[in-house]
Amino acid sequence: MPDPNTYPAATGHERETQLRSIIESAMDAIITTDRQGRVVLFNRAAELAFGCPAARIIGHSIERLLPPRFRATHQHDMQAFAHTDESSKRMGAPRVVSALRANGEEFPIDASISQVLIGSERFFTIILRDVSAKIRSERELEAAREEIRQLAIATQTAREQEKARMARELHDELGQALMALKMDVAWLQNNLGSDPAKLTTRTLAMSALLDSTMAATRRIAADLRPLILGDLGLEPALEWLVGDFSRRHGVACELQVAPECADLADPAASALYRVVQEGLTNIARHACATGAGVHIYQRGGEVMLTLQDNGRGFDPDSSPREGSYGIKGIRERVYLLGGQVDFLSGPGRGTIVQVTLPLPPPMPQAAS
Ligand SMILES: Nc1ncnc2c1ncn2[C@@H]1O[C@H](COP(=O)(O)OP(=O)(O)O)[C@@H](O)[C@H]1O
Ligand SMILES: [Mg+2]
Repeated sequence: MPDPNTYPAATGHERETQLRSIIESAMDAIITTDRQGRVVLFNRAAELAFGCPAARIIGHSIERLLPPRFRATHQHDMQAFAHTDESSKRMGAPRVVSALRANGEEFPIDASISQVLIGSERFFTIILRDVSAKIRSERELEAAREEIRQLAIATQTAREQEKARMARELHDELGQALMALKMDVAWLQNNLGSDPAKLTTRTLAMSALLDSTMAATRRIAADLRPLILGDLGLEPALEWLVGDFSRRHGVACELQVAPECADLADPAASALYRVVQEGLTNIARHACATGAGVHIYQRGGEVMLTLQDNGRGFDPDSSPREGSYGIKGIRERVYLLGGQVDFLSGPGRGTIVQVTLPLPPPMPQAAS
C-alpha cells in the first residue's frame, strides 16, 4: 500500500475539484443553501431527483423544491435549527417528508440536514433520497398482509360453517335413516312369526334404506376428504365428482383431463379437486346452466384448469355477500400454491373459472 505521505500535497484548487467530483458522483441528492435559504449547491443526483438543472435553481429559494403546504414550517424549522448547537439531524422523522419535482409531482423523501459556519456565514446542507419505491413496496406489503388476514378469518369461519353443515347432514341423513332402521328391527322382533310375504317386503325396504344410507355415507365422506383422490388419482376422482354433479342436478358436464395430468401429485391434485368441487356447487346453486365443462391440461410447465358453464353469469368484481366463502376459498387455495385464478363472467355470459398452478415436483419413485 503506498504511503499517503509520499503523495504531493494537493493544491487548494485541486482539493476543490476533488470535493466537487465526490459531491457530483454521490448517489444521494445534495443541496446546500445559505442562511436565507438560497440554493448554492445542487448536485447531479439532485438534478435527477427533482428533474431540474442546477443552473435553474442556484441562487433561488429552496422553497421551490417543497410542496407549498410545507414552506412555512420549513422556514421555521431552519431558523430553529440554526439556533441549536446540533450539527446535523434527520428531517421530518418520524413523519415522511415530501419534496416537489419541477413537473409539479410530489415525492416522499428520506432526508437529513446539517449546518456549518464558514467565517460568519451559515450554510445548511440537505442530503436526501427519493423513497417512492420503498414506500410503494411497504404499502403493497401492508395490503398483502391485510389480504392474508382477511383470508385467515374467512378460512376460520368457513371451517366452522363446514362443521355445522356436516353435523346437519350426519343428523338429517344418517341419523334419520338409522332411526328408521332401528324401528324396522323392532318391528321384525315383534313380528317374527308373521306372514313371510310381509317379512320379505319389510326386509326388502330395509335393504333399500341400507343401500341409500351407504351411498349417503360415501358422499359425506367424500365431501369431508376426497378419499377417492388418494385411492384412485385425480382423473377418476373428478369423473366421480362430475358424474355425481350431472346425475344430481341434471346438468350435462364434460370432463377432459390431458394424459399428463391424469395422475397429478398433491398438493396440486387436491387443490384442483376442491376448486372443481366448489365450482360445480356454484353452478348448481347459482348458474341455472344447462351445460358445463372441466378441462385440465399442462402449458409451459404449469397446470391449467378451466371450469366453465353456460349459465346466467355474474359480476366477479362486485363484492360477495356476507358469508360467501366459496370464491374466497378457491382464491386462498390457489394463492397458497403460488398459482393464479381468474373469474371471467358477466351477467348473461356464463362463467369461466381459470386456474393456473405451478407443477408439483415429481412423485418420489417407490423403492424396488
Ligand atoms: N357459476 C356461477 N354462475 C353464476 N353466479 C355465480 C357462479 N359462481 C359464483 N356465482 C356468484 O358468486 C357469488 C359468490 O359465490 P361463493 O363465494 O361461492 O358464495 P356462495 O356460493 O356461498 O354464495 C354467488 O353468490 C353467486 O352470486
Ligand atoms: Mg359457493
